[in-house]
Amino acid sequence: MPTDPRPLVVCLGSVVMDHTFHVDEIVQPPSKNRARSYALGAGGLAANASIAVSRLGGHCVFWGRVGDDLNGRPLLDALAAQGVDVSHCRLAPGGRTPVSAVLVDPVGERSIYSYRGDNLGTDPSWLPLQLIDGARAFLCDPRWLEGAACALDHARAKGVPTVIDGEKTETRILLDLIPRVDHAVFSMPGLANYAPGKKPEEALRNALADGCVVAAVTQGEKGTLWMTRQDPTPRRTPAFRVQATNTTGAGDVFHGAYALAIAEGRPIEQVMRFASAAGALRARDGATPDRAMVEELLRAR
Ligand SMILES: Nc1ncnc2c1ncn2[C@@H]1O[C@H](COP(=O)(O)OP(=O)(O)OP(=O)(O)O)[C@@H](O)[C@H]1O
Ligand SMILES: [Mg+2]
Repeated sequence: MPTDPRPLVVCLGSVVMDHTFHVDEIVQPPSKNRARSYALGAGGLAANASIAVSRLGGHCVFWGRVGDDLNGRPLLDALAAQGVDVSHCRLAPGGRTPVSAVLVDPVGERSIYSYRGDNLGTDPSWLPLQLIDGARAFLCDPRWLEGAACALDHARAKGVPTVIDGEKTETRILLDLIPRVDHAVFSMPGLANYAPGKKPEEALRNALADGCVVAAVTQGEKGTLWMTRQDPTPRRTPAFRVQATNTTGAGDVFHGAYALAIAEGRPIEQVMRFASAAGALRARDGATPDRAMVEELLRAR
């Protein structure tokens, strides 16, 4: 059997059907208005990261849950069309697929209403965990605690490096997951949820004390603050200067690129730069870049 030369990255977490409306104005008070354009597509933290892994040249297997409603199958098809292997996803009988209504105004400001889905099942026993054994990295988000916890534990037992997108969620979920992960890469709201009231540096040191080898927080156009267990001095990887048009998903793409760079065995400074370049291009274009675009931006500096 021919072997796939691309490094395998397994991703687990949220997948959402995004209904995006481009509007002239987000009108108040509520009234009947027309949209300029409309797009239907796959979103969700880990799903967006999976698309990034695949577009940047990795082999991505995604594990997530959708309902067997009108949105479920088309959502998985949309991910598959981007090269993501969704063959092990769960189409939950009687489940409701997560969906979002995204309103984007002409200057790129957005308003999002998300429905997290229903009856998708939290039991992770269907996950084919042995697939992780052949992976070079595992990535998850905090949207499915039970699945993330058991896959992180399996990956750790097998020595596969793990990354979490430490996004905004309940504090108890991050307190449960962070000690199980190698690379804790938070968003600013997520870091505040993990260590309420602490300054970023102090919160990141907490994650190292919890057992992480790298702790980082992405700060949009201010770049990424990070430290390692080996050297807990705070360091900053600056953001690439771009004209941002739509920053939705820049963090998700950053995480996918980060996991792929880890899978490729790159040193941490390079991982941060590679992920920053991918995130910046997503913010510039509102679309996930391919490998050549990221390499070009990296060469330009
Ligand atoms: N306007 C921007 N210009 C350049 N790079 C950006 C910009 N916005 C994001 N990035 C890059 O992407 C990374 C992640 O962005 P950010 O911190 O905004 O993620 P986030 O808060 O998780 O948001 P989301 O998940 O909605 O994308 C940043 O650290 C940076 O490297
Ligand atoms: Mg994010």
